[in-house]
Amino acid sequence: MECGGQVTPRLLMAVGTAVIGSLQFGYNTGVINAPQNIIESFYNETWSSRFSEPISQTTLTALWSLSVAIFSVGGMFGSFSVGLFVNRFGRKNSMLMANVLAFVAAAFMGLSKLASSFEMLIIGRFIVGLYCGLCTGFVPLYVEEISPTSIRGALGTLHQLGVVIGILMAQIFGTESVMGNASLWPLLLAFTLLPAVLQCVLLPLCPESPRYLLINCNEESKARSILVKLRGTDEVSEDMQEMKEEGQQMMREKKVTIPELFRSPMYRQPIFVAIMLQLSQQLSGINAVFYYSTRIFERAGVSQPVYATIGAGVVNTAFTVVSLFVVERVGRRPLHLTGLMGMAVSAVFLTVAMALLDQLKWMSYVSIVAIFSFVAFFEIGPGPIPWFIVAELFSQGPRPAAIAVAGFSNWSANFLVGMCFPYVEQLCGPYVFIIFTVLLLGFFTFTYFKVPETKGRTFDEIAAGFRQSAGQGADKYSAPEEFNTLRGDDPDL
Ligand code: GLC
Repeated sequence: MECGGQVTPRLLMAVGTAVIGSLQFGYNTGVINAPQNIIESFYNETWSSRFSEPISQTTLTALWSLSVAIFSVGGMFGSFSVGLFVNRFGRKNSMLMANVLAFVAAAFMGLSKLASSFEMLIIGRFIVGLYCGLCTGFVPLYVEEISPTSIRGALGTLHQLGVVIGILMAQIFGTESVMGNASLWPLLLAFTLLPAVLQCVLLPLCPESPRYLLINCNEESKARSILVKLRGTDEVSEDMQEMKEEGQQMMREKKVTIPELFRSPMYRQPIFVAIMLQLSQQLSGINAVFYYSTRIFERAGVSQPVYATIGAGVVNTAFTVVSLFVVERVGRRPLHLTGLMGMAVSAVFLTVAMALLDQLKWMSYVSIVAIFSFVAFFEIGPGPIPWFIVAELFSQGPRPAAIAVAGFSNWSANFLVGMCFPYVEQLCGPYVFIIFTVLLLGFFTFTYFKVPETKGRTFDEIAAGFRQSAGQGADKYSAPEEFNTLRGDDPDL
């Protein structure tokens, strides 16, 4: 069923406002990388003045790792709580309320230097993690629910575009000449306040998700009038009909809780696919690059590692834009597969370059190209797709619970890579990226055999595909019949 692909100013305004939350996630992911040494000196000074002795290296490393990783712990809690908000307060109000966390976190981090308290910085990182965890659920949910079917993937990719622009901003603001210096670093961390204010001003001008109003609140006329504005036409009966069908299906289902997702044969396959896709994103090793790129470039013999890191941020942004334009033509599956394979090959090149560096100096250039292509392939598929495909794999009933589970898996794997990479790197030396190569090939195989194409299909059609395969008692983990047929029929795939 086609629902029209009109991009109206209203729709763009709503999506643009929502993805400010994605930008916050990216900014806070990237912000802690460049000013590491400066903030560590602050920890040292604070410690010295409190205990009249310098901090030991072990304590400093532990405090620093905690400051980096507690963000993902906050993210795990935040993403898991998405379901508590979205049905009770609605999609729009949930996004609005979450900004309180950004304000509080900005205050804690921004005032930590004044208060001579590194504890405040760490607490602030946890709170901003909570906030970003909520954003990674709220934003894709809202964007997918208000988008017309035919451009749902492209608009879903805007979440990732927000993330990568946020990372790039953090990389640039974090350079010494901007805010990454001894006097301005508190402002660098507190900057997160400004996008939060902007979102609070703009969100009241945006509509609630009509799908939520119709299906969850039974407010048909309100849903219709919002849809008319979002689509820019009075002809919204097809969209309304599609939503109603989804709603009727939801009435037939029991309220879907998180345990129910794993118990019911109908949801077991899509939740398994959703979790694996999130794991494929994080265990690809992308955040080993975004958390530790400066050090990786240093080891690879690059003379200006900070600029190489910014280069990685630029490549990251450029290829997300590429994905945005091709995702509706090529489809989710081929892009995800291409991305995973390209990353695996790039990781092999990186390993070879790192291993031969001592013999051949020019290998440092190969390593830059390998890291750039690793990042580029990530953004072709594994970056954007896992975030928005979860909303596509489920209908309105189970969607919030599924998004919570998927987000939690993503953040847990993010935490694991962030914490373990420095240690594993010490163990494996230049061969550390081989681990990611093996994982990437595993995820490639999984995607090839088990992930259905969702391009151009309504939520209800996608859910029906899974229902059909569950009903037929088909192999629990193979792509549903209906999707396989589709794959074979589609010349693009
Ligand atoms: C994705 C990941 C995030 C990563 C980013 C890099 O959004 O979820 O962890 O830092 O891509 O662009």
